[in-house]
Amino acid sequence: MIDKYTSLYNRLENTPLGNWLVRLPEQVKEALSDEKHGDLEKWKSLLEELPCAKPTSTDFNAGTVRIGDPDDTPPVKVQKIKEQLFKFHPWRKGPYSVFGIHINTEWRSDWKWDRLKDFITPLDNRLVLDVGCGNGYHCWRMLGAGARLVVGIDPYLLSVVQFHALKHYTGDEPVYVLPLGIEDMPDNLNGFDTVFSMGVFYHRRSPFDHLYELKSFLRGGGELVLETLLIDGGKNEVLVPEGRYANMRNVWFIPSCLTLESWLVRAGFKNVRMVNVCRTTAEEQRPTEWMTWESLPDFLDPDNPDLTIEGHPAPKRTIFVADK
Ligand SMILES: C[S@@+](CC[C@H](N)C(=O)[O-])C[C@H]1O[C@@H](n2cnc3c(N)ncnc32)[C@H](O)[C@@H]1O
Repeated sequence: MIDKYTSLYNRLENTPLGNWLVRLPEQVKEALSDEKHGDLEKWKSLLEELPCAKPTSTDFNAGTVRIGDPDDTPPVKVQKIKEQLFKFHPWRKGPYSVFGIHINTEWRSDWKWDRLKDFITPLDNRLVLDVGCGNGYHCWRMLGAGARLVVGIDPYLLSVVQFHALKHYTGDEPVYVLPLGIEDMPDNLNGFDTVFSMGVFYHRRSPFDHLYELKSFLRGGGELVLETLLIDGGKNEVLVPEGRYANMRNVWFIPSCLTLESWLVRAGFKNVRMVNVCRTTAEEQRPTEWMTWESLPDFLDPDNPDLTIEGHPAPKRTIFVADK
């Protein structure tokens, strides 16, 4: 897997992000060393066992990210690819179609993209960072939207491995998922044109540090796209769940829209605008044949779907766009 990042390092060289190269290759090597995760060796072998096949076409600009068509490779091979891809269960973010294999993921991540795509500065030719990108579904969409280079980061190694399983079948597109957490990023990169943080904010213990970190990755005038959970309420209202929230253990701050707006302003962002608010439904997040574990329907109060099983308001999400 490590060698798959060489072209990223080459691509970074002549960009404002060149300084990142001082530590990045060593960090990636360390993050992907076998002792970092008990299953990593197994996942690397599974990646190597993926059958080879060449797609005649790809489409990164549609709700279902498509790599190849069923006719590109014999049905027996398609079946083998399907069995192999399934070994990377659970598939949470998608959907994807790989040689006609429909990877019906837990999340309809395309709905989130649809909610924001018309409100962001067009990504044509931009350097884009996706913090907490999961298996990279939105990274492919960012590439499809014209970005020059897309870098996703996620410390959860199975997601990184899923990304590599898909990239195995595309060319060397300028899209990468790095096995890093936000805390592994250098200070003051000041180089990305657009930075996305989607579904990460509420997992951070210090919301202001998160906003300042995101700002430090952007060049002056760059754009932040922040997607997170919210509660109804006025300015300065915020939910800090004492225990779990919708079964998630590591949820810290769920602000109201007005609170989040004021925090973005306080962190120094300009032109702060809320572009979407939406309730998460069981059509958007649910168990599927590619993610067979519990999902949102299991985390809502069976007698009152307006509440989580812990008695908190059921998940609602918002998207903010702001400038550095
Ligand atoms: C709710 S998911 C959101 C995935 C995707 N961005 C989306 O919106 O669909 C949160 C992601 O943040 C990742 N994450 C957790 N800790 C992180 C950290 N310290 N730095 C960056 N990402 C992190 C998780 O592994 C997970 O993939």
